[in-house]
Amino acid sequence: MLERTLILFKPDALQRRLAGRILQRFEDKGLRIVGLKLMQITPQLAEKHYEAHKTKGFYPGLVRFMTSSPVVALCLEGKDVIAIVRKLVGKTFGPDADPGTIRGDYGASKSFNLIHASDAPETAKREMELFFRPEELLEWKPADFEWVYDVKDELK
Ligand code: PPS
Repeated sequence: MLERTLILFKPDALQRRLAGRILQRFEDKGLRIVGLKLMQITPQLAEKHYEAHKTKGFYPGLVRFMTSSPVVALCLEGKDVIAIVRKLVGKTFGPDADPGTIRGDYGASKSFNLIHASDAPETAKREMELFFRPEELLEWKPADFEWVYDVKDELK
């Protein structure tokens, strides 16, 4: 089934000029960009996005980190895109993440981890609504769609 997911390139990715290389990983996989923007997020938005972690010791620092520089918000569409993107991103922190994953290849920190990706359909929906207005997410079909998935009608 076609689904969508919300990804954030975090301030460390922007400060380290890794945005282009990270986006390239997703394009190379055959995933479709349906929303993309550079944002300076507010503390209120960061707090809401991470509200499930409100009681954790790292929460205030995480909110400060996420608001310290611009982020890129990205919405990708694809078959099973949520699980695929989580695999491409890798384990939470670079030192534990496998080589070949984004965090495994570019991350060495135990608190800065370059990228956020939704972990389930319900969180993806909630997070897309936080970061994008409906009209900012576009419907379109890439020319290579059938070649990426080897399908004809089922996913249109
Ligand atoms: S937990 O505690 O198991 O729910 O944590 P986890 O799912 O691994 O992480 C939830 C998000 O919190 C971020 N996190 C941290 N940020 C800064 N410092 C520390 N110590 C820290 N620990 C966890 C982690 O990156 C997750 O955010 P996202 O944006 O989803 O990666």
